[in-house]
Amino acid sequence: MGSVSTIVGDFLPGLPGSHPQYWRALTAACDQAEPPFGQAGYGELFRREAMDLDWLARLLILNAQKEADGSRQLWAFAGRIADPDCREQVRAHAVDESRHASFYISLLQLAFPQSFTPEEVEALHGISPGFKAGDAVDLTDPSDDDLVLDELIQMNIGEIRTLINQLLMRPVLSLVCPDQNAARLLRLFDSLSNDEVRHIAYTADLIESRGKAERTAELMRLRLDEFSDITRRELGGAQIEAAFD
Ligand SMILES: [Fe+2]
Ligand SMILES: [Fe+2]
Repeated sequence: MGSVSTIVGDFLPGLPGSHPQYWRALTAACDQAEPPFGQAGYGELFRREAMDLDWLARLLILNAQKEADGSRQLWAFAGRIADPDCREQVRAHAVDESRHASFYISLLQLAFPQSFTPEEVEALHGISPGFKAGDAVDLTDPSDDDLVLDELIQMNIGEIRTLINQLLMRPVLSLVCPDQNAARLLRLFDSLSNDEVRHIAYTADLIESRGKAERTAELMRLRLDEFSDITRRELGGAQIEAAFD
């Protein structure tokens, strides 16, 4: 596991050249203070905790809940974006995250098939808000451009952290999973991670297209520090699962 910007660059090698303002903001913020989720100790802590299978199962359910919460927040955010193209992209993102909530329950079922009854699995699928591709979002209360930029930067950082957490979970769950379910589990992980990479890319695009280099750099530093502080607090306390959402 490398630093945060190295991981993003590995998945999106064209990004530094095509999105120079975004890239400068991300790398400068990481150089100033590397987030805990880009450090080797984070992965080591995850692998130590993941020896406890109950913890892993709870973590998947927690991830389903986080994806569902994120999806609802994106849906509400889409309603505050005046620009129709940007609104549509965030709406589609909310639909993806709604689907991801269900994916995590499918991962749970594949990794721990004996641990949950079909009724329990069905109830857990109900965690997803169930947004569909054809669902429309209405413009309710448009935010100003600076607030939209701020939200996009926070989304971008959140997507990077989620991708890193998925990269940590993937090998551990593929070992825990019964052999006959492993191929499906890995396909689901690939699909999840491809979506998260796409989410990093389109938010980077929207951030870059605003052309506000200084404000982007300022907000990236501020929000990355906040994400780091929250992660450190979660790792230090009883909320350790939340750090790996
Ligand atoms: Fe997701
Ligand atoms: Fe995502």
